[in-house]
Amino acid sequence: MCGIVGYAGERGAADIIYNGLKQLEYRGYDSAGIATLSDGKIHHIKRCGRVNALDGFAQKLSGKVGIGHTRWATHGKPSDNNAHPHLWGKFAIVHNGIIENYAELKEKFFAGVKFLSDTDSEVIVRLLDKFYDGDFALALNKVAALLTGSYAIVAICTDFEGLGVLRRKSPVIIGYGSDGNFAASDAPALAGVCKQISILEDGDCAILTRGKVEIFDSNLRKVQRAKKPNLATAASLDLGDCPHYMLKEIREVPASVVNTCAAFQSVESSLKQALRGVTRVIITGCGTAYNSGLVAKRYIEKFARIPTEVEIAGEFRYKDPVITSGTVIIAVSQSGETADTVEATLLAKASGAKVIAVTNAPYSSLTRCADVVVPVAAGPEICVAATKSYTGQLAALYMLAYVLAGKSADGAAENISAVPKLCKKTLECADIDSLADMCVSSRGVYFLGRDLDFAVATEGSLKLKEVSYIQSEGYPAGELKHGTLALIDESILAVVLITSARLAGKSENAVEQVLSRKGKVAVITNVESVIKRYADRAHIVKVPECEEDISPFVAAVAAQRLAYAAAVKLNRDPDKPRNLAKSVTVE
Ligand code: F6R
Repeated sequence: MCGIVGYAGERGAADIIYNGLKQLEYRGYDSAGIATLSDGKIHHIKRCGRVNALDGFAQKLSGKVGIGHTRWATHGKPSDNNAHPHLWGKFAIVHNGIIENYAELKEKFFAGVKFLSDTDSEVIVRLLDKFYDGDFALALNKVAALLTGSYAIVAICTDFEGLGVLRRKSPVIIGYGSDGNFAASDAPALAGVCKQISILEDGDCAILTRGKVEIFDSNLRKVQRAKKPNLATAASLDLGDCPHYMLKEIREVPASVVNTCAAFQSVESSLKQALRGVTRVIITGCGTAYNSGLVAKRYIEKFARIPTEVEIAGEFRYKDPVITSGTVIIAVSQSGETADTVEATLLAKASGAKVIAVTNAPYSSLTRCADVVVPVAAGPEICVAATKSYTGQLAALYMLAYVLAGKSADGAAENISAVPKLCKKTLECADIDSLADMCVSSRGVYFLGRDLDFAVATEGSLKLKEVSYIQSEGYPAGELKHGTLALIDESILAVVLITSARLAGKSENAVEQVLSRKGKVAVITNVESVIKRYADRAHIVKVPECEEDISPFVAAVAAQRLAYAAAVKLNRDPDKPRNLAKSVTVE
């Protein structure tokens, strides 16, 4: 959701910022730009396309202070003009977020003035220049008071050898390097250059120079923000022998599960305490995180027999939710910064719910509103499509369901201990590649399943569509006949997940219904009777046998591998699917 980087130090800023932007491309990649400051002048380059569109130009920008941006367009199409930085007068700015009242501000302060871009962001730089009277921090503060919406802003001013930073709702961290100070959207931008970071809070304004960082609250009173270790390291960004982060991160699923189980122990007792007396669970999240909630609902209701609802965060926040006493909200988010998830959680908290955050980002906004943070220890996930974080979430939620049931997390860890090996074996399944061929040659793909298999089907479908752009839907196997069957013909593929012997017969009905309408069928299964029955009539992907409750891990890895293979066959970039970005910090 747009990545921003700023640097004020002793070295050439453009190179450092360029490298930082490369690490933030997962946040958006439709245009990029850099502005530097030298001899009281601002130099800049901005281009439509990925960060490497700046190659050869960025390196020519002189100056030891600068800002950079990699964009995910919200207002204004991807273009050179709409790319950041935006410049006006003495200022250049980069912005992540949405200025909701930009049209009113334009009308009020700049009526009749032609702007250079179609963005909401340009109004920020115009306002800064208008309200500046020699005091950078004061100008930032005056502008912040006018803006509504969400923003992380880094600005440079020709009068000042440093950076000005503002934060409201969109994340910004401050990094302390050996030769200068940094501002960035996220820790990976500072991997290898800053060992320590501080997280700005809502309303903060910061002024950074080469040797000094000053942070102020919204009343311009000086405040301290704790320094924390930067957990993103250069090693965590290394692709190794993998052509894409997506494949690397699918291969890291076993480690994600092992590390998440180990990390759970540190929160088990606080979790037990927080969950005492809970009579109702609401799980919320978006996209893949929501899908992991669908699996968790089944775990919680099975193990703990506590009624559980799963709510899409962007819907939940705009209804009038009923929060009864004894309600706990479990907010699931890889990034911990997804605007809808954070706002939904704050709403539930304000209505009296206890909050458990399940996240891969230990310093994120979500953690700050949680009573207990259950860590997902997947490590940095760079591919836009979530893979190892999904299975990490499943592991954390499985353990949580156990604790809700009043059992010890050790028992859960014991049950899950087989998962890493099973996932490794699944990665080796030979028939996934040929199934990818079937996907590629189909007009559309339905992922079908019942119960846990349905929950994973929703994620399998999301993964396929987002990285391959093949039309796809995850659907309950039993629901097909109630309308959707009308869409089945020889151009459609149904991928049926059957990892439960208990429900195999029922899911087979869906297989028959599709075959009878000349649809193509593939079955991802570990049930021997299913393999025998459909050996000649469907494409079979045989996944390792396992307990029903841990089958979601196995089925998920098969689906992730399938999506990756389909994307590669279609020459898509699986790490940076079109139109998308990781960490969706706007509505
Ligand atoms: C899909 C994907 C997205 C995210 C969603 C929520 O592969 O990654 O659907 O799951 O944007 O993001 P987080 O988990 O960061 O809240």
